[in-house]
Amino acid sequence: IRNELTSKNGHLIIGGVDSVDLAKKYGTPLYVFDIEMIRSQIRKFKAAFEENDLNYQISYASKAFAVKAIYQVMKQENAHIDVVSGGELFTALEAGFPSDKISFHGNNKSYAELEMAVKNHIGVIILDNFHEIELLSDVLQSNNASVNVMLRLTPGISAHTHKYDQTGQTDSKFGFDVESGQASQAAKAVLNNKQMNLLGIHAHIGSQIFGTEGFIMLAKKMMEIAKQLKEEFNYWPQVINLGGGFGISYNQDDDPISASEFISKIAAELKKSDENVPEIWIEPGRSIVGASGYTLYTIGSRKDVPQHLPYVSVDGGMGDNIRPALYQAKYEAVVANKMDEKDVETAHIAGKYCESGDILIDKQALPKTKPGDILAILDTGAYGYSMAMNYNRNPRPAVVFVENGQSKLVVKRETYQDLISLDCDY
Ligand code: LLP
Repeated sequence: IRNELTSKNGHLIIGGVDSVDLAKKYGTPLYVFDIEMIRSQIRKFKAAFEENDLNYQISYASKAFAVKAIYQVMKQENAHIDVVSGGELFTALEAGFPSDKISFHGNNKSYAELEMAVKNHIGVIILDNFHEIELLSDVLQSNNASVNVMLRLTPGISAHTHKYDQTGQTDSKFGFDVESGQASQAAKAVLNNKQMNLLGIHAHIGSQIFGTEGFIMLAKKMMEIAKQLKEEFNYWPQVINLGGGFGISYNQDDDPISASEFISKIAAELKKSDENVPEIWIEPGRSIVGASGYTLYTIGSRKDVPQHLPYVSVDGGMGDNIRPALYQAKYEAVVANKMDEKDVETAHIAGKYCESGDILIDKQALPKTKPGDILAILDTGAYGYSMAMNYNRNPRPAVVFVENGQSKLVVKRETYQDLISLDCDY
């Protein structure tokens, strides 16, 4: 949900810090995260569960933004996290994040990744397919270990941004299909394995979801699946994990639902059942970090095309935010040093990458800019830095956390030297 922007002396203020000073101090492009907003999002989810009297766990989907410092914030907030690769797991462990609060996802985890998880006593491995059950069984045998697991299911519900349809998700690369009996087959295999403890069942229906209908259907379906497992195996899950996907507002067209509305609707559905409601876990990524992130750029060149909108270029682009080019994602921006300026013009905001598709914002009304002005694109906290890359050999930006009027560098800006650090001569 869009944060209220604050400004002072015409400058955008983030977490009590002047964004123009941040641009000067750390350079641009620069990712800035307002940490108080992240903490407050987690607290909103927690409060929603508590109001509805559900046992719960908030597990931050760290693919949205995965650096040591954010894992440390999650540790301070007592949240769980999920990881989807050995790299995310390594980063979390290096950050000192407690391994028993980590869930490990992925549709093709390797033997090495599973062994790393087992050796580090990870909280739960979310099993995705039959090959993985065998692989994990081998890992557990060779390490003489045991581990908690959950089954990722494709319950036949797929939620897209505004619509949902009941069958779409069955044709997915993730998880055990419920309809065809794969889920029950997988449960049998796991329940028969003495080194695996089946903690519960998991499903994730999509991302950037605005409606509650998909989640209500999912909650209902998961309770039905639990009942089937009870009938078949006399097994009742301790946990039902409903995944993530809660939408946020990137522009005026987006109309997201609050955490409390999502959770109260889910709770109402779950409580219709006469069975015990298991602990409910959710895995929000975007809704935890999305709105807290800003990307600051310096405005450079400008091209005026007769009868068309001008192109205003910034010193970053698709390398630090691939989402407009990849998903036609729509962002909004402000001119961080001209917050009080009323004289506006409409322009394309272009990146500096050698591709016509590198347009960060197709159209935006902004105060008239000149080279050296600072542009702030809003709501870039999720899937921005985590999907950043070095196309055109542009170094990736630095990341700064701000809180209580203080700023702290948490990821250094890449240097040209960093860019060639893995290159070998030939
Ligand atoms: N849990 C699972 C199993 C997931 O696959 C995902 C996201 C999440 C949780 C978190 O979803 P969220 O709350 O962040 O929507 N790169 C895309 C988004 C990909 C999401 C993949 N899975 C984007 O930039 O929109």
